[in-house]
Amino acid sequence: MKGIVLAGGSGTRLHPATSVISKQILPVYNKPMIYYPLSVLMLGGIREIQIISTPQHIELFQSLLGNGRHLGIELDYAVQKEPAGIADALLVGAEHIGDDTCALILGDNIFHGPGLYTLLRDSIARLDGCVLFGYPVKDPERYGVAEVDATGRLTDLVEKPVKPRSNLAVTGLYLYDDDVVDIAKNIRPSPRGELEITDVNRVYLERGRAELVNLGRGFAWLDTGTHDSLLRAAQYVQVLEERQGVWIAGLEEIAFRMGFIDAEACHGLGERLSRTEYGSYLMEIAGREGAP
Ligand code: TTP
Repeated sequence: MKGIVLAGGSGTRLHPATSVISKQILPVYNKPMIYYPLSVLMLGGIREIQIISTPQHIELFQSLLGNGRHLGIELDYAVQKEPAGIADALLVGAEHIGDDTCALILGDNIFHGPGLYTLLRDSIARLDGCVLFGYPVKDPERYGVAEVDATGRLTDLVEKPVKPRSNLAVTGLYLYDDDVVDIAKNIRPSPRGELEITDVNRVYLERGRAELVNLGRGFAWLDTGTHDSLLRAAQYVQVLEERQGVWIAGLEEIAFRMGFIDAEACHGLGERLSRTEYGSYLMEIAGREGAP
């Protein structure tokens, strides 16, 4: 399975903070925002990942993450010239996806909760069409909304409904089979001129091949699109990391735990960050597994 992190857009709701910088580079507490979605793909065992951003900002991501080899993954980069919609990422990334299946995640989405690794692994293993992840919210009218029957089976998908018939928002993580590029090529832009991901998902639904996994209330799906939600997300990360002494979305740690890099490499990455608490943390976990 190939991965795509979509990290373009205009970030207008965060101006002036994002007037000259990409939203997905802004820190969420102690690391750049893009670490969070990237960590989700890595937890899903995905190692070939394309980062898509705007012509102005793509180089920032390249300098931040390079070719990914230090994390035992392969990163490449592509440009989305205009914010032409989330489904447009599937066209920009068509060559990267090739004939493979694909996980698309939005660069400003933060997922955190028990069993994320198992949930991803199981969802990828049984992928037949598409898998979407629903999350109960109090303002569903702002999102693509999933309607389900009494058994939780997906019955309808509606983009930003005026009167939502369910409180389940479709989150920014989508798993697709190898039909997705063809499907994306055949949808039409919405009245706002964007290729809507809901239209791609509706094609799968009409074919009877769309599954919804409800993340449920024990999970955190955090928004970072406004100043307040960004601050709240940072506070969430700070509280959990401080209280538990673990790191959320530490790419180096995840690379190590997933077996993408060995203990020695993890220790080396820790050394590079030795003036930070995270550096010591990396050296410590690597040391437990026998690194010098
Ligand atoms: P949005 O939050 O809908 O838009 P935005 O990031 O441009 O911000 P604002 O509303 O403040 O102007 O986008 C959701 C995510 O998808 C975000 O990470 C940006 C990304 N995105 C793209 O990269 N390209 C696109 O064409 C669109 C529509 C979104």
